[in-house]
Amino acid sequence: MSQILPEAIERYLAGVNRRRDPVLDAIAAEGHRRDLPIVHPETGALLQVLVTALGARRVLEIGTAIGYSAVWMARALPPDGLLLTFEREPDRAAEARVNFARAGVADVANVMVGDAARLVWKVSGPFDLIFQDGDKLLYEPLLDRLLALLRPGGLLVADNALWRGEVVAGYVERPHYPREQTEALVAYNQRLATDARVLSLVLPLGDGVSLAVRRP
Ligand SMILES: C[S@@+](CC[C@H](N)C(=O)[O-])C[C@H]1O[C@@H](n2cnc3c(N)ncnc32)[C@H](O)[C@@H]1O
Repeated sequence: MSQILPEAIERYLAGVNRRRDPVLDAIAAEGHRRDLPIVHPETGALLQVLVTALGARRVLEIGTAIGYSAVWMARALPPDGLLLTFEREPDRAAEARVNFARAGVADVANVMVGDAARLVWKVSGPFDLIFQDGDKLLYEPLLDRLLALLRPGGLLVADNALWRGEVVAGYVERPHYPREQTEALVAYNQRLATDARVLSLVLPLGDGVSLAVRRP
């Protein structure tokens, strides 16, 4: 549960999310078994809708883990599309590759191993959609580079925008996350809200998802 929406609403949303499948469910089960912070299924469904709505052909993801969100997005790409995803842990990247093959998206999904702060300078745009889900301390430092990699009208999406509610000062009695990560997310949300290059909002879905359209 995300701790953002009431449990009954979450259950309802899960019930109307009909796009799950056995491969995605197996990847999610493995992620939960190992306590990996993968996106909520409804966030995955949102990503798939966005990739489809944009007619996206090129997608970039920061933070692969074992490939759960990447599979959601890759499934919406055309056969000649590209999903590039960065992961600094080689074992996780290797597992993501296996999961891409299981999900039938190995032809479009590619994982690059290394530090996203370095890798963002090794790739060239334009991308139609970029999904930030790596180190929260990097969200804001990467913003300028990611906007430069995004096509005008493209979408910059970030997970954990609400951070179990901890971005709201005083809302959570005993915070779970290190304060510097929470502060980084607060700063990122604030920056997006005031940055003239984008039109943005935060959705209270999953753990909170921020969406920012790069203005033409
Ligand atoms: C929240 S998980 C990603 C979950 C994935 N997007 C999903 O929903 O299936 C974050 C991942 O980012 C990776 N990561 C953290 N900092 C990174 C960095 N600087 N460069 C590349 N990957 C990083 C972590 O190893 C972790 O696997």
